[in-house]
Order: sequence, then structure tokens, then C-alpha cells
Amino acid sequence: MTQNLALSQWLDAFKTAFENGTLVKLSLSKPTIAAGDLKSIDVRPIIIKRELKLSFTYHHQTRDIVKNYTHDESMALIDDSLRAQFCAAKLFTTQADMTITQKNDEFVLAHFPASQKTAPALSHDRAKNHVVEANNKHYLHALGITDKHGKVHHNAQDKFRQINKYVEILDAHIKRLQPAEPLRIVDMGAGKGYLTFALYDHVANTLKRNVHLVGVEYRAELVTQCNEIAKASAFDDLRFEQGSIADYDCAGAQIIIALHACDTATDDAIAKAMQAGAALIVVALCCHKQIRREMKPVAGHALEFLLRHGTYAERMAEMITDGLRAQYMELGGYKTQLFEFIAGEHTPKNVMIIGTKASFKPHEIDAIRISIAATKAQFGIGFHALERLLK
Ligand SMILES: C[S@@+](CC[C@H](N)C(=O)[O-])C[C@H]1O[C@@H](n2cnc3c(N)ncnc32)[C@H](O)[C@@H]1O
Repeated sequence: MTQNLALSQWLDAFKTAFENGTLVKLSLSKPTIAAGDLKSIDVRPIIIKRELKLSFTYHHQTRDIVKNYTHDESMALIDDSLRAQFCAAKLFTTQADMTITQKNDEFVLAHFPASQKTAPALSHDRAKNHVVEANNKHYLHALGITDKHGKVHHNAQDKFRQINKYVEILDAHIKRLQPAEPLRIVDMGAGKGYLTFALYDHVANTLKRNVHLVGVEYRAELVTQCNEIAKASAFDDLRFEQGSIADYDCAGAQIIIALHACDTATDDAIAKAMQAGAALIVVALCCHKQIRREMKPVAGHALEFLLRHGTYAERMAEMITDGLRAQYMELGGYKTQLFEFIAGEHTPKNVMIIGTKASFKPHEIDAIRISIAATKAQFGIGFHALERLLK
């Protein structure tokens, strides 16, 4: 075997392991004179700012230096190092270990059984226990979150984290609700159903509650696909219906959810939930076009210096849209919490409003009305979509 063939086979194995998530680590050893005081290099995968990279630890005589590189940069660096600075390298994957060793100017390739059968945690979050376990979940595989062995794909880590966080939040609220059998939940704008499936699975199979969950979605192809996955998962009381949020009859639902339903579809869902008297309303916010269009510059506004910048006007529109939503919910007898449900680096659409039934005193209601009127006047807002729907 020539030097290049063995080396390129080893590098190919490294590339494949990196791409399919089976890479554990690799190390370069047996330094040549050209390596100077560098004794070895260890390389392991790492997620930095949502990007899968490789972390190189350079072990020098008296210190270690850590640097992170993209996969392409890493391939070139490892190739160069093996041609000039090191005579041996070992690749550890969950499938096999592979060494290359230089003998008489030629690399020799050798295979060994895998000494580590699980891939390492790539970030702090990955090591945590998840509310939704990835193993043996047909729906997670069918939705492209995991491979067939239940391993979360690198590019689905954020989605998986989001699913877990969302189920964790709902879990706490569901446990506080008056027990009702069956628990009726409607997910408005269910999309591909990632969160719908995970919630159903958690409530039915982990909490062992009798639950009926309906996902409402415009797009017929998603509805068909989700119903097929529900059937294959034997999720008998989960179904998806094609239709619009505004037209869906959710009478009797205790929990109404709308996650990232676009623009005023969120308002449709909140209005429906309030009119149905749902015990729990959960919305994760999406785009905020309606109020952005409504906002008109008011001469002499104290925040004019901010609002003349499109970016800040945009952010202000988001805050006003959601702040007003919370206030309309309060007027309708729901205590609200508005918070970031997951770190912004995982998704920019990370604000959630949770409404739970509560009663307000007349003076509190008056204060909310005054605040709404003042906000609308200050920002030149004619109407808020939710306000119209509730009227
Ligand atoms: C951004 S996706 C979010 C999907 C899912 N809730 C999630 O968070 O992963 C929004 C979905 O809501 C659907 N949708 C938007 N407005 C709707 C409406 N008025 N009625 C029904 N579905 C709607 C869209 O077709 C889309 O699939």
C-alpha cells in the first residue's frame, strides 16, 4: 500500500465519521524533528455557536494550546501534520479504531475493534438528561431528528433541545392543572408536528394520562404525513386535521398551543383559546408584521431617536405586539408570563407567552385598559389583531 493510499483511506474514514456523528476523537503522535517541542495533537468534535467544529489540543513540552477549526480546515491541517510532523495517528470512531503508522517512508493502515462505542457529548446540554429521550422513538426518526439508532443528528440538535425545553415547560403546567380525563389539547399550526408528537408522547406515555391531542394545520401534505407517523407510532389519540386556526372549533379543549404560528395566526389561536375558556394557553411567538405596519411615527415621541432606525422599530413592534397580547389576555381573565423559553443562540423565535386562568380586581383591569390605550396612542397604533378578534 502506498503512503498516499493508506493516508487517504484514513482521512476518508475520519471525514465519514465526522459527517455521520460517529467520530469520538483522533490523535497524532510520534513527532518528527520538524514538530519542534510539539509532542502530540488530540482532536475531538465540538459544537460552537451551533456549528459542528473540531477542537485541536496541541500538547507542547510545557503547555497545551487549544484551537478550533472547521472540518475542511481540519482535514488540511491533519494531512499536512502527518506528512511533516508526525509518524503515527489513531482514529477512534464508535464503529472501529484505525491507526496509520509510518514505516520506511510509507504509511501502514490497521483496523481494530472500536474501543469506545458511544460518541462524546459535544456541548454541555448534550450531557443532560432529556425529558424526551431520543431512543426508540419512531416519530423522531421519521421527522429527521434522529438516525435509526436513536442518535440525534448534528443538524437537529437545536430542534431536539427546543422540543425538550418545550415539553419540560408544559410538563410542569400540566401537573398543576385540575385532572381532567381525557386531557384535551389542541396544537394550532402544528407544522411538521415535532412538538406535537413529543408532547403527546410525554403526556400519554410518560405521564400516563388519557389524552386527546389534535394538531391543526393548513398544509394538507403535512397533515397526511403526520397522521401516517402517528399511526406508525401507535399514537391512537393523536390526530392532525387540515384547516385554519380561525375556523377550528376547539370547544372543550383545556390546553391550546400555538408555536411559531405566523403573524396574526397567533392572535387567532389566542382568541380561540380564550373563547373556549382553555385552562392553559401556550404561544411561542413568530413574526410581528401587523403591528409593525400599524405603527406610525408620532411627532416628538421620546423614542423617536430609536424608532427612526428600522432595526429598532422592528424590535419595538415585536415587544409592543406581544406586550399588548399579554394585556388583552389579562383583560380576558388570564394571568400571563412572557419569557425566553430557550437561549437565543438556538432559535431567534424564542419568546413564549403562557396564560393561566386568574381573576383580576376591577382596579387592575382599569390599569390594564389605561396602559393599552396609552401604548396605542403613543405608537400611533389603530388596532391590534387580537383586540379585534376578541371584540
Ligand atoms: C413556523 S411553522 C411552526 C410549526 C410548529 N408549530 C413548530 O413550532 O415547529 C407554522 C405552521 O403554522 C401553519 N399555519 C400558519 N397559519 C395558520 C393558520 N391560520 N391556520 C392553520 N395553520 C397555520 C403553517 O402552515 C406552518 O406549518
